[in-house]
Amino acid sequence: MSILDYRRQSVRTAAPRRLYQAALAALALAVFVLGTAASVDGCTPARDPRFVGTATCMTCHKGITASDLRDHFAGPHAAIDCETCHGPGLEHVRAGGRNGILIDNPGDDPFGATPDLCARCHADAVDGHAMTTHFTKGAASCNDCHNVHKPGGFVFASDPDRFLDNAGYVQLCGECHAQQTGEFLRSGHATKDAVTCGGCHDLHVPATFTAPPENNQLCQQCHASFFLGLDSPEAVDFHTGAFHPVDPAGSGASRCVTCHLPPQRRTNQDRGPHDHSLLTLRPAETNALIAQGMTPPPNSCAGILGCHDASVPGSGAPFNLDHPSDNTVLQRFFDQIGGIPEKVQ
Ligand code: HEC
Ligand code: HEC
Ligand code: HEC
Ligand code: HEC
Ligand code: HEC
Ligand code: HEC
Ligand code: HEC
Ligand code: HEC
Repeated sequence: MSILDYRRQSVRTAAPRRLYQAALAALALAVFVLGTAASVDGCTPARDPRFVGTATCMTCHKGITASDLRDHFAGPHAAIDCETCHGPGLEHVRAGGRNGILIDNPGDDPFGATPDLCARCHADAVDGHAMTTHFTKGAASCNDCHNVHKPGGFVFASDPDRFLDNAGYVQLCGECHAQQTGEFLRSGHATKDAVTCGGCHDLHVPATFTAPPENNQLCQQCHASFFLGLDSPEAVDFHTGAFHPVDPAGSGASRCVTCHLPPQRRTNQDRGPHDHSLLTLRPAETNALIAQGMTPPPNSCAGILGCHDASVPGSGAPFNLDHPSDNTVLQRFFDQIGGIPEKVQ
């Protein structure tokens, strides 16, 4: 096809489309005029002549001439007018919406600008999120996880129930945290469909935890129950072995996460990554790695910041992760750990 043919063809197709757009704009304006005549209560911005009202927006935003926003009315913001968030739409409508001109799209905001919009109604969620590393490191802002137009309020259409299930979290968080998500899927929490990421992580509080890990409340909010077995100090003592007594002050002796979420590298252990499979890493496995000529990562005994690893400066522990004979002794202690009274009987 020559350039000329191409231009002739595009003129042929473009002309009727422009007519159609003009007709739609006229229809939208008609809906707008009738809508304002029928007046609305003081909360609706339709009184300001630059605001046209949600019904007018929906004459186009049905998926044929413009993107389909009908889902919006099955979502948490169904009762809020389009222009409350997008600003006045008259100019956009007059222009037939063409290419989305003359209207605010918060999806185009620079990182960190959208929270101002959300804060008008969700001050707590915004304040909490602003203190997490997701925000301070520029990693994820509201629109990375939420889509205000979708039924569940998240970036993909999930169950209208606001509580994400495991499939939802895996999709939402897995995009950026593939390692933790893959390990989590192997944990009993996932295979038994018992706990989601949200059981331990609250993305809207500074520490990002639903309870502190240091004093075991993170795990004990569920496991300190009759059904899950660790419901008394004696039960925790029994579980963690005589040498890791229950430690409500949180100084570290029986800390669940040091054994069950061991760090995977030797430097910056507190910053992660941590193994999310919840399977403990035995000292015997460390020796297997040493035998293969590898530099072993910390195991459950070496733990966070080197509980039993003299190779971590300042830990003062008598065992050394790099010494197979030390690991053999540790493994003997380890074999006495992990029982749950009810399950043992
Ligand atoms: C006459 C038809 C028409 C009407 C009425 C209309 N739009 Fe649009 N709108 C469009 C078209 C066409 C686009 C561009 C294609 C797309 O994004 O779907 C668009 C795009 C948009 C965008 C995306 C802008 C961007 O930068 O990507 C937003 C936001 C938007 N419209 C909001 C609204 C709101 C709010 C209303 C009511 C105040 C409204 N529209 C009314 C036709 C319309
Ligand atoms: C609670 C605030 C809020 C309300 C109410 C709202 N929007 Fe949006 N809208 C947003 C945000 C935030 C984005 C950016 C989403 C993104 O890109 O992740 C957006 C994006 C859009 C887009 C561009 C993306 C797309 O899906 O095409 C259009 C078009 C749009 N909105 C139209 C509408 C219409 C029409 C209404 C009313 C039926 C409406 N919005 C109501 C906040 C809102
Ligand atoms: C004009 C007020 C308003 C604005 C602005 C607003 N929201 Fe909302 N939002 C609401 C209301 C009202 C609800 C429904 C609350 C409910 O059902 O308990 C809601 C619900 C939600 C929910 C579901 C929470 C739940 O409890 O089900 C999420 C997620 C959400 N909003 C995110 C956002 C994000 C992200 C933004 C900014 C892009 C935003 N909202 C902007 C008023 C607003
Ligand atoms: C890393 C992902 C992520 C980011 C970023 C994020 N959220 Fe959330 N948000 C969630 C999850 C997960 C939930 C919890 C859903 C549940 O359990 O009900 C939630 C819940 C909410 C809720 C309902 C519960 C509540 O705390 O009121 C609102 C409102 C909300 N978010 C708004 C926002 C706003 C506004 C921003 C931006 C400042 C934001 N979120 C950023 C993932 C995120
Ligand atoms: C758009 C990408 C993205 C998404 C989506 C995302 N995250 Fe993150 N998240 C990050 C990045 C990047 C960091 C690391 C910041 C750093 O420390 O460098 C992080 C850090 C974290 C941290 C550590 C917080 C801290 O204070 O140390 C937790 C916990 C976390 N994310 C959980 C989640 C969960 C749960 C979800 C799903 C609801 C999620 N994230 C969704 C990118 C994302
Ligand atoms: C929201 C509640 C909740 C939280 C928080 C929680 N758990 Fe669980 N956990 C459960 C439930 C429920 C089961 C399944 C019990 C069953 O069906 O046998 C479980 C099972 C387990 C299992 C056994 C997995 C298997 O393969 O059978 C381990 C190990 C475990 N949890 C460790 C932890 C640790 C460590 C923490 C804290 C970092 C923690 N849990 C936090 C509720 C929770
Ligand atoms: C049983 C509780 C629990 C569950 C469930 C859980 N996490 Fe975690 N997560 C933790 C703990 C505890 C830490 C911090 C470990 C530490 O600092 O000792 C953590 C740390 C993180 C971090 C920071 C980097 C790291 O590895 O230390 C990210 C990112 C993260 N989790 C993402 C997720 C995602 C995504 C899910 C779901 C797929 C999830 N977590 C499920 C307890 C949990
Ligand atoms: C000193 C290390 C250590 C500490 C601290 C520890 N655990 Fe364990 N835990 C183990 C070992 C070892 C097992 C046996 C299974 C394995 O090797 O992964 C186990 C198994 C479990 C199981 C599965 C039991 C079963 O048979 O179904 C649960 C649940 C559990 N631990 C929860 C916790 C909780 C909650 C805490 C904190 C109160 C905690 N653990 C503290 C080492 C520890």
